[in-house]
Amino acid sequence: EFSVGATQLGQILNKASHNSCDIILVGGAACKAVKGMSDSSSQYTASENESIVWEFLKGRILPGIAALDKSYPYQIPWDDVFSDTTQPLFVDIGSGNGLFLFQMARNWEGLNFLGLEMNEKLVVRCLQDVASAGKRNLYFLSTNATSTFRSIVSSYPGQLTLVSIQCPNPDFNKEQNRWRMVRRMLVEAVADLLQVNGKVYSV
Ligand SMILES: C[S@@+](CC[C@H](N)C(=O)[O-])C[C@H]1O[C@@H](n2cnc3c(N)ncnc32)[C@H](O)[C@@H]1O
Repeated sequence: EFSVGATQLGQILNKASHNSCDIILVGGAACKAVKGMSDSSSQYTASENESIVWEFLKGRILPGIAALDKSYPYQIPWDDVFSDTTQPLFVDIGSGNGLFLFQMARNWEGLNFLGLEMNEKLVVRCLQDVASAGKRNLYFLSTNATSTFRSIVSSYPGQLTLVSIQCPNPDFNKEQNRWRMVRRMLVEAVADLLQVNGKVYSV
């Protein structure tokens, strides 16, 4: 009934599930194929309606997810993150490899720098560099800044003085990238939270 590839995949997943691996099956066909050839002790999380999952994985901001993100109260332990939380805050949205913020944090010890970056791998690397450099005015968070900026930044004890957005999308000509990060909800959050005479730097 199933192709050789599907059978092999089913066997691999079956083995993985017995080795404490969390497996998420997406789509009706995948659920049917894998469950059909697994033994009853295999554990899977199954999502038969795949379209919403693909939208999420593609990075689209679905209204429901954005609303959840927006209202989710991020608990950032600011006192653990920065040595002096009364210092003004500079937020770089889509901080990428973090090099810009590293340079800024070295030159401006009197400010705190926060990078918001969706790519978790980049954030992990940046945080390792922060720890090895012993910087206490620089931090990175892995998040979709478009929907979480307000929730994260509104709990900062000091003032938000500067926000930068640099090269937000790698290929502006692709329809799916256009305005992906810079949306009304982000612009409104920045405008609401920025201190009087605060600045936005965008290229
Ligand atoms: C072209 S790179 C620019 C990186 C950096 N600002 C620079 O100028 O070198 C765009 C970055 O924005 C990140 N990004 C895109 N949308 C984002 C979002 N909604 N929230 C957080 N980061 C996002 C991407 O993961 C990528 O690292």
